[in-house]
Amino acid sequence: MAKTPIKQLGYLGFGVSSLADWEKFAEDVLGLTIAKRVDSGFSLRMDSYAQRFFVLETGRDDLEFVGWEVEDAAGLEDARERLKRAGVEVEDGSAEEIALRDVEALIRFRDPNGIPVEIFYGPKMGEGSFSSPLVKGGFNADSLGLGHLVISTPNRDKSRDFYIEVLGFGLSDHIICDLGGFQVNVAFLHVNSRHHSLAMGGPMEKRVHHFLLEVKSIDDVGSMLDRVERARLQVVQGIGRHPNDRMVSFYAHTPSGFQFECGFGGREIDVDGWEPTVYDHISEWGHRFQPPRKPKVAK
Ligand SMILES: [Fe+2]
Repeated sequence: MAKTPIKQLGYLGFGVSSLADWEKFAEDVLGLTIAKRVDSGFSLRMDSYAQRFFVLETGRDDLEFVGWEVEDAAGLEDARERLKRAGVEVEDGSAEEIALRDVEALIRFRDPNGIPVEIFYGPKMGEGSFSSPLVKGGFNADSLGLGHLVISTPNRDKSRDFYIEVLGFGLSDHIICDLGGFQVNVAFLHVNSRHHSLAMGGPMEKRVHHFLLEVKSIDDVGSMLDRVERARLQVVQGIGRHPNDRMVSFYAHTPSGFQFECGFGGREIDVDGWEPTVYDHISEWGHRFQPPRKPKVAK
């Protein structure tokens, strides 16, 4: 199959119920900075790109849209043709959407899960070099994309096959195991040398299970975990290492109830010589589920 025109996971849009909580979380816990404010919310910067996350007040507390970047107009047309051949309805982004995302052009469609997906080229780069006030070593993003996204799907195989056969994503591997009585079956896909930019599991209440931010220093993982605990957010899984992407990470709740993962040391792969495998465990060590945080008792 022809190589995917998609270069990287460019941006994510979250629809939230409390912009104030998300602003505090993004700045004081994640160490991102506000890029731009609009009537419905704000966008966030993490690296050389002007905007990586759009946080909009919709009340849904879920993933609102996903943006994948292609190189240029030819890449956009390649993606459009692939989608049309597969019978997917594709629309051009409106002038308003293009202005909000600050890209040259975008098309949009819904994936087999009903998730709004945008494909774009020509994102605006941020002014000056980025440095996070809290994540001292910075984020491992830029040409690798913002991190990764794990979505829930009513039919994982159908969704996996759509991203591979229609859009040309590569299969990295599967993890299939029993996790304390819960059947895990997750497919991991790549578009560049990041081990996975998208992964998908079975059906869940929200569209998104978690998104990952990768930092360049293990100390920044620990510092972020300290900030999560100070902010009294729920840590879902403590520090551990995954066998497939080798990431050392922890998981915690965002203010919207879905999770984020903060990790360090994820492997990069050679996409041309890659052979997918199946793992029968989700962690090499750690990632222990944490008990629910006790409510603060007023004195
Ligand atoms: Fe992850």
